[in-house]
Amino acid sequence: MKKRIGVLTGGGDCPGLNAVIRGVVKAAIIQHGWEVVGIEDGFDGLLTGRCRQLSIDDVRGILPRGGTILGTSNRGNPFARPVEKGGKIEYVDSSDEVVERIKSLGIGALVVIGGEGSLKIAVDLMNKGVPIVGVPKTIDNDLMETDVTFGYNTALETATDALDKLHSTAESHHRVMIMEVMGRYAGWIALESGIAGGADVILIPEIPFDIRKICLAIEKRRNNGSRFSIIVAAEGAFPAGGLRVVKNNADATHAIERLGGVGEFVAKELAANLDMDVRVMVLGHLQRGGSPSTFDRCLGSRFGVKAVELVDRNEFGTMVCLKGRDIGNVAIEKAIKQLKVVDPDCEMVKSAANLGIMLGR
Ligand code: F6P
Repeated sequence: MKKRIGVLTGGGDCPGLNAVIRGVVKAAIIQHGWEVVGIEDGFDGLLTGRCRQLSIDDVRGILPRGGTILGTSNRGNPFARPVEKGGKIEYVDSSDEVVERIKSLGIGALVVIGGEGSLKIAVDLMNKGVPIVGVPKTIDNDLMETDVTFGYNTALETATDALDKLHSTAESHHRVMIMEVMGRYAGWIALESGIAGGADVILIPEIPFDIRKICLAIEKRRNNGSRFSIIVAAEGAFPAGGLRVVKNNADATHAIERLGGVGEFVAKELAANLDMDVRVMVLGHLQRGGSPSTFDRCLGSRFGVKAVELVDRNEFGTMVCLKGRDIGNVAIEKAIKQLKVVDPDCEMVKSAANLGIMLGR
């Protein structure tokens, strides 16, 4: 009998997912003659049975496409599935159904393409006997044990391009423009796009900010003849001694905390303290969309091929990773132990400061 493997994309989408799927399908079929089952909408597809066999034809022409041809979900944890009972949300463990489904589909190994949340679920499924290989995905770049996750590079390009565009309008109107970017609890997108896009102030979650000092920095710029300023604020940034701005907390109805609104918060404070027009632009889900960059297409393809190699070598419970220029693998558990955040004293932060960028402190 032919070996059959499954592949799914879990969590928030990001550019490059299709390159990984294509890599998995091509390597599995061309190198090994295996069958590949594409599972739809992340782990949800294993509960509902929504899946389809993927051929080489199915992955033709998908390299430049954003999103994922399989669909995804960042709400589908089979160990805590939200179910409405008597007007209330209750969380039920449906993991046994998932394990049964994997068996009944004849799937001998599963490739899980996901971020921290999906890889945590992968580890729990591994503990129930499902052989799994992980592929690290997220625009946030917050996974340990890999130099970078695919999707991050494209998100950076989008953010940098937006900063270039904001510069001209900020300059014409002599305004303070605040651009809020994603990244959850890590400031990578804000820091790197801020440096690349010539920001004047960069606010990241790892360095709580002081509004008074931001005002002083903008005033200093104005006194030196620069009548506009550009601020990049990571959605997870927060004031020293204050709270993170959230759209909703994690509670019975929301599985995870949703961040957002720090741009508006900073704008209000600046408008109250500076005699300048302040505007906010929330870049939002644009960072997750669009065609993947060359870097992400190549990295995603290499990750997909490596994942198949790991399945072939029975190296389950591991995740593909990039170390330097090489693709390797590490234990998934090691990669999800803690988030990879920006070290406030690292070279990149110091370089930003040496470029005259104000970092909120
Ligand atoms: O983890 C990726 C990410 O885009 C974060 O940067 C952001 O906080 C979150 O997902 C947004 O999720 P949603 O698509 O559910 O709004």
